[in-house]
Amino acid sequence: MRFSALIPVVFITASFILTFLCLFAGSRKGLLEDYAVLTLNTSRIGYDVFDNSDSSSSDNAVTSIIDNIGDSIQDEIEEGINDVAQDLGIHDFYSAHLMNYCEGFYVPGATPNSTVSKSQIHKNVTECSNRTAMYNFDPQQIIQKELNNSVGDGVVNLVNDLDWPEDITNGIRALQVAAKATFVLYCIAIGFIGIALILAVVSIFSDGRLSALLNVMVDWLAFLVIGIASAIATAIAVKGASVINRYGDDIGVSAQQGNKFMILTWIATGLMLLASIVWCFDCIVGGRRRVSRPKYN
Ligand SMILES: *[C@@H]1O[C@H](CO)[C@@H](O)[C@H](O)[C@H]1NC(C)=O
Ligand SMILES: *[C@@H]1O[C@H](CO)[C@@H](O)[C@H](O)[C@H]1NC(C)=O
Ligand SMILES: *[C@@H]1O[C@H](CO)[C@@H](O)[C@H](O)[C@H]1NC(C)=O
Ligand SMILES: *[C@@H]1O[C@H](CO)[C@@H](O)[C@H](O)[C@H]1NC(C)=O
Repeated sequence: MRFSALIPVVFITASFILTFLCLFAGSRKGLLEDYAVLTLNTSRIGYDVFDNSDSSSSDNAVTSIIDNIGDSIQDEIEEGINDVAQDLGIHDFYSAHLMNYCEGFYVPGATPNSTVSKSQIHKNVTECSNRTAMYNFDPQQIIQKELNNSVGDGVVNLVNDLDWPEDITNGIRALQVAAKATFVLYCIAIGFIGIALILAVVSIFSDGRLSALLNVMVDWLAFLVIGIASAIATAIAVKGASVINRYGDDIGVSAQQGNKFMILTWIATGLMLLASIVWCFDCIVGGRRRVSRPKYN
């Protein structure tokens, strides 16, 4: 029996579970919704369009929106209620996960005010899309579809009427290849971490330097893959949020990088590094122990 192997078994098991959660977070309603890679906040989309267009606007499309739904929106803006999204029939937020997206509303309200502080605002998910491997997050398409459903086909064009910046769409498209690679890397990482776990459990019962060495190598591989996956996921979250915040500011669209997701994935990575270090140690110390044993016998 090699009791020192129990330590990496614990680390690897934890890493396995966390990596699994990274992949499956948000894939069902109510399952770790806060662990999105990126959350798009559209609660105030078009706020300025409706706020400014009361009399000066000669734009037909905007006038027709106002005829349809704009009056109530303008009333609400005057009353200080900011949830334009809800009136347009779209959602307050769209959170991107590795295999799907979820959408819903902020409760009790989208913007903090004197009675509701930022920390009291929660996401209330109404729906999550189906899980899809190699999934593409395309907010422009999602929101346009919802607009078509709520106010009628083609009545409100997201880009032309609500000034949705194409730069956001292009910025997100640029990240899509990376997003697919991340998904594949998480799957490979789960495979390697699983193998590492089996090897570690077997090594509890097989004392030997060779098995420790094998563990070091597999753990290192798993660490590399989950590390690269975490790095790319972090880059996507940070870059995506910065693109959306840069171009979305004018139209009331913002984004938040998924800090909780990043913590989860980097802890999983760190645990694999620790496991490989423990094995490395075992390899050196254990080797010496076995070499010196005959002297004492
Ligand atoms: C703050 O927001 C909440 C939720 O939207 C709303 O019920 C409340 O009336 C607001 N308070 C003020 C002072 O505007
Ligand atoms: C959503 O975005 C609006 C406008 O960008 C901002 O005022 C509000 O605080 C954001 N809400 C949350 C919950 O992040
Ligand atoms: C959250 O959304 C559900 C519908 O999905 C709704 O029934 C519920 O009332 C909402 N909760 C709050 C606090 O608004
Ligand atoms: C999601 O899956 C369900 C059943 O698995 C199916 O009925 C539904 O059409 C799917 N929705 C989409 C948007 O593909």
